[in-house]
Amino acid sequence: MTQIHKSGALYHAGPKRRPIWEATYRFGFTLAFLVAIWHLTLQQQPYTTLSSSSNELWWQTYVQKSLSKGPLKIPLMPFELSVRNDEAIIQVLQHFKVDPQKGLYPNTHYENLTIIDIGLPTESVLFAKEGYSVEAFEARTKGIQQIERVFAALPNDIQQRIHLHHSALSNVSDTTMQMYDANDSSSLLESAIQSVQEKSKFESSGQRMETVGVNELDRFIAPSMNIVAVKIDTQGVEPEIFMGSQKLFSQRSSLQSPPIVIVTEYCTTLRSYEELRVGPHLLSGLGYTCYIRKNSPPFTELVLDSALVYCGDFVCIHHPSVGNF
Ligand SMILES: *[C@@H]1O[C@H](CO)[C@@H](O)[C@H](O)[C@H]1NC(C)=O
Ligand SMILES: *[C@@H]1O[C@H](CO)[C@@H](O)[C@H](O)[C@H]1NC(C)=O
Ligand SMILES: *[C@@H]1O[C@H](CO)[C@@H](O)[C@H](O)[C@H]1NC(C)=O
Repeated sequence: MTQIHKSGALYHAGPKRRPIWEATYRFGFTLAFLVAIWHLTLQQQPYTTLSSSSNELWWQTYVQKSLSKGPLKIPLMPFELSVRNDEAIIQVLQHFKVDPQKGLYPNTHYENLTIIDIGLPTESVLFAKEGYSVEAFEARTKGIQQIERVFAALPNDIQQRIHLHHSALSNVSDTTMQMYDANDSSSLLESAIQSVQEKSKFESSGQRMETVGVNELDRFIAPSMNIVAVKIDTQGVEPEIFMGSQKLFSQRSSLQSPPIVIVTEYCTTLRSYEELRVGPHLLSGLGYTCYIRKNSPPFTELVLDSALVYCGDFVCIHHPSVGNF
């Protein structure tokens, strides 16, 4: 049986047959609906300040953004900082008028201004004495024992501000890895114990290998923590730690801002330049400006040069007033 439809299209009446225009219309509608759902799903992610295209890992967008601007410029810090990382972090925070008792800005009070201390976290002592909460991380059992002895000698009120976590940090969670125990130069990377200095530390530790638990830093980040600073000394694993810190960088606490200062080691003897530079490029893509201290080796630009040996710390700052200190 053949009918003439109102539109003039010819079609066969029957339960299954539909005009081609209707099928196209339905398909188009379904597609639009799916696209809308997909958009809504993206919009409803809890941390919305960081974004990337669907087939990229979140951090790749920011690394690309920085790489596309060419080699990073690492200028001298505009004011002199202590050679000690703990003192330098406190100096930078004081410069920006951050005060754990009074808050982040004049006339504001935030509880739990927090500093993250990763890798043999002895710096935690000063941070806690200054009044900050501290999330401290050490991967090795021996390191934990050493740190616990240091913390146990502190007054109770100071001890209570430090939360010590026995875990290595990287860009994966709930797994274990082998750690090369070279005392204060221990690393998850075999390449990090190849230089003369680190090799001798590894040998003096009896070439100990330890199976350590590994997690992303994001696992330990709670919305109630107002994280103002991070110290990272993990012998070359810094890029992966940043990759596992999406929440840290987009934290939606009352601060509405990522950490103000990150002090991170940068040493080209620990791993290949191509891998190592992902760390500072990621920070740069996220809006950080990195500096070297006056006492660090002179270094003004990261250039792709395998002959270049550089070991020092970068002091990376994310603050509205950076650029006109
Ligand atoms: C983890 O790090 C490795 C090496 O840097 C990288 O190739 C990989 O894409 C990273 N994975 C995630 C999920 O970040
Ligand atoms: C490791 O570090 C601790 C604390 O600084 C020190 O007492 C110990 O002698 C070191 N061990 C080795 C093997 O270097
Ligand atoms: C501060 O941190 C402690 C422990 O980490 C938590 O119990 C408390 O609720 C936090 N306070 C605020 C105001 O978020």
